[in-house]
Amino acid sequence: MVNEYEIKKQICDIGKRIYNRNMVAANDGNISVKLNDHEFLCTPTGVSKGFMTPDYICKVDENGNVIQANKGFRPSSEIKMHMRVYKLRPDVGSVVHAHPVYATSFAIAGIPLTQPIMPEAVIALGCVPIAEYGTPSTNEIPDRLEKYLPYYDAVLLESHGALTWSTDLLAAYLKMESVEFYAQLLYQSKMLGGPKEFDQATVQKLYEIRRQMGLPGKHPANLCLNKDRMNCHNCSGGCSAEKAPGMPAGTSSVHGTTDMHVDNRAQSPEVIAEITRRVLEQLGK
Ligand code: 13P
Repeated sequence: MVNEYEIKKQICDIGKRIYNRNMVAANDGNISVKLNDHEFLCTPTGVSKGFMTPDYICKVDENGNVIQANKGFRPSSEIKMHMRVYKLRPDVGSVVHAHPVYATSFAIAGIPLTQPIMPEAVIALGCVPIAEYGTPSTNEIPDRLEKYLPYYDAVLLESHGALTWSTDLLAAYLKMESVEFYAQLLYQSKMLGGPKEFDQATVQKLYEIRRQMGLPGKHPANLCLNKDRMNCHNCSGGCSAEKAPGMPAGTSSVHGTTDMHVDNRAQSPEVIAEITRRVLEQLGK
């Protein structure tokens, strides 16, 4: 069990990464980590997340009320958004909010990240929808986020930024990196005349790799949301899975094994390397 001070140091380290990678400007972004059902660590409001030390980090309860905060620090103004994720997703151990340039541009343009264009993005993320706009710091953002929480591990926040969550802090942060990388590839391939999308059979093979790997979290390989062939990947609603709201009648209702348990591997460098190895194997390279 990692001690609390170590987790505070890790939050500062991830804060530096999101700042140094241009995923936030000035005092933007926020990070939280679940210690147990009643205690959470979070970044303070109104400071640059690139220059924090452990004494900046606040502790709150499950309602976002302060348990401990050093003089001059108050919890993030977006703590309600983080708490809604933990409330509806007991499997989640950390939440990261940032404003990465490409992902946020898609959020501003109102274009969700749904095109299946590269293996790692399909396997690791599935699709990234856009939660409808809400005023920052109010309950509007958590309220609009709610319907996406059972089905995704990353969303764009309309005209605002991106939000990712996972089993632990590193995994939640790496998911943010993946979202931004995917958004950048999508943007740049659009500039080159438009990406070539995978066909349904290719998407299915990638979903199968994810199921075999037993990755934690929510993903269209396990929970299909493709009700109108627009919301998600090009899988015709045949992407396995538990019946989600609005799915067409007759869609199969098989629970994927991977959704049923949680482990800490999420998006560790080893998992990313393994995804790459299996994709290349499937592609016969
Ligand atoms: P806080 O500094 O209050 O966490 O807010 C930053 C931010 O990005 C709000 O969306």
